[in-house]
Amino acid sequence: MNDGIHLTQFAKHGGCAAKIGPDTLSGVLERLPKFTDPSLLVGFETSDDAAVYQISDDVAVIQTLDFFTPVVDDPYTFGQVAAANALSDVYAMGGEPKIALNIVEFPGELSPDILGEILRGGADKVHEAGAVLVGGHSIQDDVPKYGLSVTGFVHPDKIYKNYGCQAGDVLILTKQLGSGIVNTAVKAQMASPEAEREVIRVMTTLNKKAKETAQKYTVHACTDVTGFGLLGHCSEMASASGARIVIRPKNIAYIQGAKEYARMGLIPGGAYRNRDHVEPFLEAGQVIDEMWLDLLCDPQTSGGLLMAVPESEADSMLRELARAEIGTEVSFVGEVLESGCEKGRMVLEMGEGDR
Ligand code: CO
Ligand code: CO
Repeated sequence: MNDGIHLTQFAKHGGCAAKIGPDTLSGVLERLPKFTDPSLLVGFETSDDAAVYQISDDVAVIQTLDFFTPVVDDPYTFGQVAAANALSDVYAMGGEPKIALNIVEFPGELSPDILGEILRGGADKVHEAGAVLVGGHSIQDDVPKYGLSVTGFVHPDKIYKNYGCQAGDVLILTKQLGSGIVNTAVKAQMASPEAEREVIRVMTTLNKKAKETAQKYTVHACTDVTGFGLLGHCSEMASASGARIVIRPKNIAYIQGAKEYARMGLIPGGAYRNRDHVEPFLEAGQVIDEMWLDLLCDPQTSGGLLMAVPESEADSMLRELARAEIGTEVSFVGEVLESGCEKGRMVLEMGEGDR
C-alpha cells in the first residue's frame, strides 16, 4: 500500500531535525508575556520538556505537544516514532502518560490508507504506554506531519526537572545516539540494513521502562535528548543547573554505522545549527575530531532520557537498566564536575574514561 510513496520526500527535514533552532526560538519566546500561577510548577522559562500544573496535594498534570515531518518512509513506523517521541516528554518529567490527542497534517492527494497507517502506529504506541487516545485534530497540508498532545500525571514531589544536577553526579543516557546521521544515510540509500533496523528500533522504543526503572533511584535532573542533540540538551541542563559538566564521547553508545556515516559527511543540517548554539558553552580544551562533534550535535528523533544520578547509585542504576531489557543501549556520558556556578559549562574529554 506504500507503493511508490516515499513519505520522507515530502519534507526537507525529518523528525526532530525539523525543529526550529534553539536560538531563534528563545529570541521569540522572550517576547511573550510571562504567565504566573501558584499552581504552575514548571512553565516554559526553563526550556523543560513539558508544563506541570499542580491540581492537588498528590497530583500534578503534565501537558505536552510534539509533532513533526516524516523521518521514515513507512507510514506505520512514522506513526510509532512520532508517538513515542511525544510520549517521551511526559516520561522526561517523571510522569505517566494518561490521555493523548492526535495532531495531523496530511496532503489531500495521498491515499487515506497511508494516513490510517500513520494513526494506527501512533495508537499502538499510546496503547503500549497505557494511555488512552481520545481524538485529535487534522488539517490538509502539502507536507505530512504527525504527533500527539499528551496529558500525564506525576506526584508534585517527584517531578523530574531539566535542572538540579549536583557536583559528583553521573550522566546516564538510555538510548544510543546517532539517529539523525543514520536517517540521513538511509535517505541517501547508503545505510546498511542493520543500521536501518537499529535506528527504527531506537526511535520506536518508549522511554517508559527506562523511566520506571530510574524511579527506583535518585534522579537529580532529567530531560530527553531530541532535536538539539546531546550537547544541546546537556547545555540546557548545565545552564539551568549552573553546572560544569564533562562529556566523554568515547563512552557513549552509538547506533551502528553512525560513526562511519558521520565520517562520510552524512550529517543532517540541524547538527550545524546545534553546534553554533553549544559552542559558547564549550570550554576550550583538547582538539576534538569533527566526527565526534557531529555525533554529539546530531539532532535525535525520539532519543533517550539523559539523567543526572548520584555517583553512589549510578552503577546499580545502569546495571538494572541493562537487566530491564528496555530495548536500547544505556551508557554513561559524563559527570557533573561542579554545581552552583554562575553559568553552565561543558568540557569534552576524549580519553577512554574511568567507566
Ligand atoms: Co523533550
Ligand atoms: Co519534545
